[in-house]
Amino acid sequence: MSTTEESGSKTARIEQPSPAKGKLGIMVVGLGAVATTMIAGVEAVRRGLAKPIGSLTQMGTIRLGKRTDNKSPLVKDFVPLADLNDIVFTGWDIFEDNVYESAAHAKVLEKETLEQLKPYLETIKPLPAVFDQYYVKRLHGTHVKKGKNKKDLADQVRVDIQNFRKTVDRVVMIWCGSTEIFLEPTAVHQSIAAFEKGLESNDPGIAPSQIYAWAALSEGVPFANGAPNLTVDCPAMIELSKKNGAPICGKDFKTGQTFMKTVLAPAFKARLLGVSGWYSTNILGNRDGEVLDDPESFKTKEESKLGSLEYIFQPELYPDLYKDIFHKVRINYYPPRGDNKEGWDNIDIFGWLGYPMQIKVDFLCRDSILAAPIALDLVLFLDLAQRTPSLKSIGIQEWLSFYLKSPQTREGLYPEHDLFIQSMKLKNTLRHIMGADLITHLGLEYYD
Ligand SMILES: NC(=O)c1ccc[n+]([C@@H]2O[C@H](COP(=O)([O-])OP(=O)(O)OC[C@H]3O[C@@H](n4cnc5c(N)ncnc54)[C@H](O)[C@@H]3O)[C@@H](O)[C@H]2O)c1
Repeated sequence: MSTTEESGSKTARIEQPSPAKGKLGIMVVGLGAVATTMIAGVEAVRRGLAKPIGSLTQMGTIRLGKRTDNKSPLVKDFVPLADLNDIVFTGWDIFEDNVYESAAHAKVLEKETLEQLKPYLETIKPLPAVFDQYYVKRLHGTHVKKGKNKKDLADQVRVDIQNFRKTVDRVVMIWCGSTEIFLEPTAVHQSIAAFEKGLESNDPGIAPSQIYAWAALSEGVPFANGAPNLTVDCPAMIELSKKNGAPICGKDFKTGQTFMKTVLAPAFKARLLGVSGWYSTNILGNRDGEVLDDPESFKTKEESKLGSLEYIFQPELYPDLYKDIFHKVRINYYPPRGDNKEGWDNIDIFGWLGYPMQIKVDFLCRDSILAAPIALDLVLFLDLAQRTPSLKSIGIQEWLSFYLKSPQTREGLYPEHDLFIQSMKLKNTLRHIMGADLITHLGLEYYD
């Protein structure tokens, strides 16, 4: 290991990722607001109609070497990512609407934009879905697969993957489907063998999202989860992911309020400012909001949203500052706003000698506009992970926590929620796999 100036220890020689040759097939589960915004956005960018704003893979740069080297290539020029022109989309939904119809229904993108993209978007028609209303109470699906048990349904999804695979070179799957009811891991989730038995016996602990994930990982296809569902967050899926060299990562796109939380909370902690309360509420009027209006789906989202502060503040290390935080998260379904969510945060903080202060955040955001680039980056990076010998068979890609409300880690490791640590981890992982120096930001060398 050699240490250069501000950039730190040189990565030992490792085998670099293989090139992104040919077509990358992206299989999207749930062609709703986020998925259609991503697909239409990729097509708009391909045609030069718009810029991929918010996407690190498309617009981000990465510093290499010393500050004085002035070397900061685009991420996509540094690591071998699939080109947007090589992406082919397909997917499943419980409704028959093609991507144009579904995007028009979601009302995220302007009519004018959608009209320009219509001939392409109309060609993407959903495959029949694996669905059971027990897991998403507010939806009534009509375009669904029938099977004698969950194993049969998983096998049907595997056939869908195999058919699609004949038309492309590599495949990645991403869940952009609705939030399912809150499920905790049970015996059926503890090993590959137990899970396979559970598929045969229709174990109620296995939700539709897990049937897709199981099929993907069984086919050696990386899987990302945009929702807070349990899905791959259990030992059986981690085992399968490692066994078949199909990378996985955490869950629930980190877009609006939690994105803000994981920026602000590290700032308070860095300055040793105390926090006594953090009240977060949202109004949201899209189909996601309607699904989350069901208490059982909301519980899944709530758990995912509550986690970040606890880990960032480390109250066990800073009891005087963070021991007694009152943290509350609400989501209210309010149809007039559609996809344009408003998220309010009231933060009660305290400073020197305990004097109280308040901060108010009012984020008038666009949910799917924030989520689409995250979904794109996740699939591109999972594809990269699969082509990288040192990442392919480790299962969980913790370096992708940057994008997710609920990072996934190896058992016994606490998740890193701080957005800036996550960003550094992601970029250092890219430097590492390309054999470049890691950056420590030490920088004493400049003053020798
Ligand atoms: N937009 C954001 O900022 C954001 C952030 C974090 C997480 N999410 C999550 O991403 C997911 C998608 O959000 P959205 O706004 O696009 O919701 P949406 O309701 O517009 O789309 C979800 C789609 O999934 C389909 N679906 C549901 N169950 C399915 C199944 N079993 N198989 C196939 N399709 C299925 C629905 O019919 C719908 O078309 C939600 O779970 C949401 O909680 C969104």
